[in-house]
Amino acid sequence: MANAEIWLNGHRIGERPYGYSSFRVDLTPYILFGKENVISVRLNTEKLGSRWYPGAGIYRHVRLVKTNAVHVAQWGAFITTPEITADKGKVKIELKVANHLSKTVDINYAADIYELGNNDQPAKKVATSSMQSMKLQANGLSTDTLRTVVLHPLLWSLEQTHRYLARIRVYNEGQLLDEYDTPFGFRTIEFTHDNGFLLNGKRVQLQGTCNHHDLGALGAAMNIHALERQLRILKDMGCNALRTSHNPPAPELLTLADKMGFLVMDEAFDCWATGKNPDDYGTHYAEWHERDLEMLVCRDRNHPSVILWSTGNEVDEEYYPEKGLAKHLTDIIHKYDSTHPVTFGASYPSKSGMNGTELQVDVHGMNYAAGVYGGPNFYGEFLRKKGHEKLAAYASETSSTMSSRGEYFPGKFQVSSYDTWAPGWGSLADDEFAALDRYPAIAGEFVWTGFDYLGEPTPFNSDASVLLNFAGLSKEQQEKEKEALLKTSQSRPPSRSSYFGMVDLAGFPKDRYYLYQARWRPDFPMVHILPHWNFPERLGKVTPVFLYTSGDEAELFLNGKSLGRKKKKPFEYRLKWNDVKYEPGELKAVAYKQGKEWASSTVKTTGPAAKLQLTADKSEIQPDGTDLVFVTIAVTDKDGNQVPTANQEISCRITGDGEIAATDNGDATCLIPFSSTVRPAFNGLMLAIIRTKAHARGKIKLMVESPGLEKGVNIIHVVR
Ligand code: GAL
Repeated sequence: MANAEIWLNGHRIGERPYGYSSFRVDLTPYILFGKENVISVRLNTEKLGSRWYPGAGIYRHVRLVKTNAVHVAQWGAFITTPEITADKGKVKIELKVANHLSKTVDINYAADIYELGNNDQPAKKVATSSMQSMKLQANGLSTDTLRTVVLHPLLWSLEQTHRYLARIRVYNEGQLLDEYDTPFGFRTIEFTHDNGFLLNGKRVQLQGTCNHHDLGALGAAMNIHALERQLRILKDMGCNALRTSHNPPAPELLTLADKMGFLVMDEAFDCWATGKNPDDYGTHYAEWHERDLEMLVCRDRNHPSVILWSTGNEVDEEYYPEKGLAKHLTDIIHKYDSTHPVTFGASYPSKSGMNGTELQVDVHGMNYAAGVYGGPNFYGEFLRKKGHEKLAAYASETSSTMSSRGEYFPGKFQVSSYDTWAPGWGSLADDEFAALDRYPAIAGEFVWTGFDYLGEPTPFNSDASVLLNFAGLSKEQQEKEKEALLKTSQSRPPSRSSYFGMVDLAGFPKDRYYLYQARWRPDFPMVHILPHWNFPERLGKVTPVFLYTSGDEAELFLNGKSLGRKKKKPFEYRLKWNDVKYEPGELKAVAYKQGKEWASSTVKTTGPAAKLQLTADKSEIQPDGTDLVFVTIAVTDKDGNQVPTANQEISCRITGDGEIAATDNGDATCLIPFSSTVRPAFNGLMLAIIRTKAHARGKIKLMVESPGLEKGVNIIHVVR
């Protein structure tokens, strides 16, 4: 990231300005065979090149690819499944073979199809194409099409992520020159005007999240274990779709999505020719956009998880449909793939998506169209508009509700976790739910955001002009809050990270996570109570209690006394007891679904902080240099209840062949470097990320301590 330039032995052999594009350079012409070779890479992250933290340096995998001079070209197998029935799945492979020799070569080639295991290894062979041949010109690139049929194909779906592998073999006079693997899947996708999105002919509501590419405390460098953990946390919430806002993802994200069962909106750009920052993609658009789109599509088109290509997000050019830029980009993509629809996220508070630009894509993406606090909702108008009779739409970006985990009556640059704050262009999660429930033809949503991310700490960023909505506050209170906020945000360094996530930067779910889980997993019995119940300073003061439940009704008890049973009204998504007077003790919620008891939970006033309790996401680590173990450190009372207000400083130490890669606590205002092994807990929690050293063996022991608290220990075994 970014503006890569590459030299081999002093010869400049390639460049790629866009930091998110995968690319390949050919070393062959300048290699000194049998001698030492020097590859030099220069990177330059522009200061004003991004609206979020893009990272710097080499942060995605680099591979040395050694092939025969005759080989399948990069991304040289485009696999489609033109017909799928219960009996047979047709497979069509558009093959591209390169010849780097200065003579013509006769080649033969065929493809074998295997079932692909979750360990990425081919299992049973299920089909083979016929062997075909061609004369490959000197220094040439040629294409051909292979076809075969898989009997009784197993469909890829969100629940059953069946994948296949096409292995292409290229021969010359019986000698194997290249073997090239491409995973794919059998599934059909369709966006409809009346009935949202269909996967394999059945409606699937898009329960999506937008996410930037960073991995919190680990920064932007790709680590598959860290990414998998993020996706697992999102999946447990019921998230089934990912928008790679606003750039091409690391290719590993798509493999994980294929394996774990996510739908992906694969996005190219945050801006087109007119940039949003002086040094962003706008400066490269003219020269590079065709090549960058080609790379995105050719790299990613075989993944069954990909359902949409997105050319952009809230771009300036969407206001000028007559320029036809959206159409230009849609056409470029269709040159390389016509089996997935093209979209982009249009800005809605400004209604730019109704000016004709929406007709230049295949499926229309609406950002923030739900209507804010009773304001107009654009879904109905969009669906009814003349000319839109066939156009399908979905909510490409929604909500932008903000919160800080475990903060309910915040000052100090935190945002309340009662989930009642959103910026002027956004809306509360509930408003979007209601809008989508009123217009089920809209295919679902991509919420801003699943995880907190580095950068854009709205409402405390330098752009203090954001207009805040404070749901539930009077106009006068709103003005007061806003004034205080503007004053304070001008006089401090910015927070390090955003407040938009359902999950904080450390990977700890906020309350809002459960608001989405309640909606997205209706069959999963759950009821979540907020706030915590440690408010000695609020004795006798009104302290609202909210419940997020997948049930339809719930009863709340405070110290055994019922505070009443409430039922969700139509278009209501949380149950609120706004007049609870705080007294220490226990809150208990019992949720019901269709009259039957469904789930229950309790929140207790805890005793004072007494110990540190450690929970690791796994007990073993592979010494492969990439594996990570995430250890949650909770400050608890003597009975093991997490103390939700504990903010004491914790230090971590490690023995054995391991090291602490990073720590975090999810507090957006915490400016301690992520590499520090000492950090305050934030509202009861801290995270330590452990990695192994090269050649590690034995046991790794993590010890954590804080003055006055019982120490915590966690043991991780290195497995070879
Ligand atoms: C949107 C934008 C996102 C992010 C978000 C914050 O308008 O598309 O990238 O900036 O606002 O609310």
